[in-house]
Amino acid sequence: MSDQLSDQVAVVTGGASGIGRAIARIFAENGADVVVADVRDTPREGGTPTHELIEDETDNRAAFVECDVSDTDDLEATVATADEFGGVTVWVNNAGIFRTEEFFDVTPEEYDQLLNVNVKGAFFGAQYAAEAMVERCGGSIINVSSVAGILGNGGYVSYCTSKGALRLLTYALAHRLGPDGVRVNAIHPGGVETAMLGDAHLDDQARDAFVQAIPSRRMGEPNDIADAALFLASDRSSYVNGESLLVDGGYTNTG
Ligand code: NAI
Repeated sequence: MSDQLSDQVAVVTGGASGIGRAIARIFAENGADVVVADVRDTPREGGTPTHELIEDETDNRAAFVECDVSDTDDLEATVATADEFGGVTVWVNNAGIFRTEEFFDVTPEEYDQLLNVNVKGAFFGAQYAAEAMVERCGGSIINVSSVAGILGNGGYVSYCTSKGALRLLTYALAHRLGPDGVRVNAIHPGGVETAMLGDAHLDDQARDAFVQAIPSRRMGEPNDIADAALFLASDRSSYVNGESLLVDGGYTNTG
């Protein structure tokens, strides 16, 4: 453990479960106070709520805010909670939903539901976060995209649309906010062992084929993504801006 995030206040959306939970925990272990912003406080995979775990296991403060990222009032309440810790300096747009679908059957309501969480939530999350960061002379925004933001898949077109949008949101915001001292980067995880991977309903054969297509020959773990987020949140990446970092065991760039 280190103090590389000491004096930092981090907001992790979707931090109750999976990847967001691992990010929230590693940030706290490295010195940050953390606000978990999620529609639920118990992890999808089960266990102690993230904010309680952080308070139990570290010397840092943690809070939970019931926040639907597609609701700007909830985002405002999240920023206000971070203000109580001194003001947000790191914001991770991690909340997301995944669905497999038949493209021809997708309704406008289903489209809106997914895009509102995955894209609108990140867009306005970044807007609220950046407003607070610019006032305090800087910060780091991290968007959790996906390999599906780079590779198209006909089995989940809405999801690919949303994750591709996050990639360009990252580049555009790095351009807009860099002069104000705010860095904006994206992480593109490959398959990661979380409840969301279960939402993909892979049978054993499909899962095995997926792993065989990954040069590292394993699925990712939430901590693989959290380590990358720690790098992008910390000063170790102070000249990394507008980058989209694949964390996928080599899946996307090979084969
Ligand atoms: P997960 O389903 O395990 O956890 C997602 C968390 O987001 C949950 O706690 C959920 O309550 C929360 N959430 C959902 N809708 C929300 C909303 N409207 N407002 C606030 N919180 C909300 O998912 P996982 O795997 O941890 O995914 C985290 C991020 O990583 C997502 O953006 C996902 O698209 C992305 N990702 C995941 C991959 C995987 O294989 N697990 C691969 C690539 C990207």
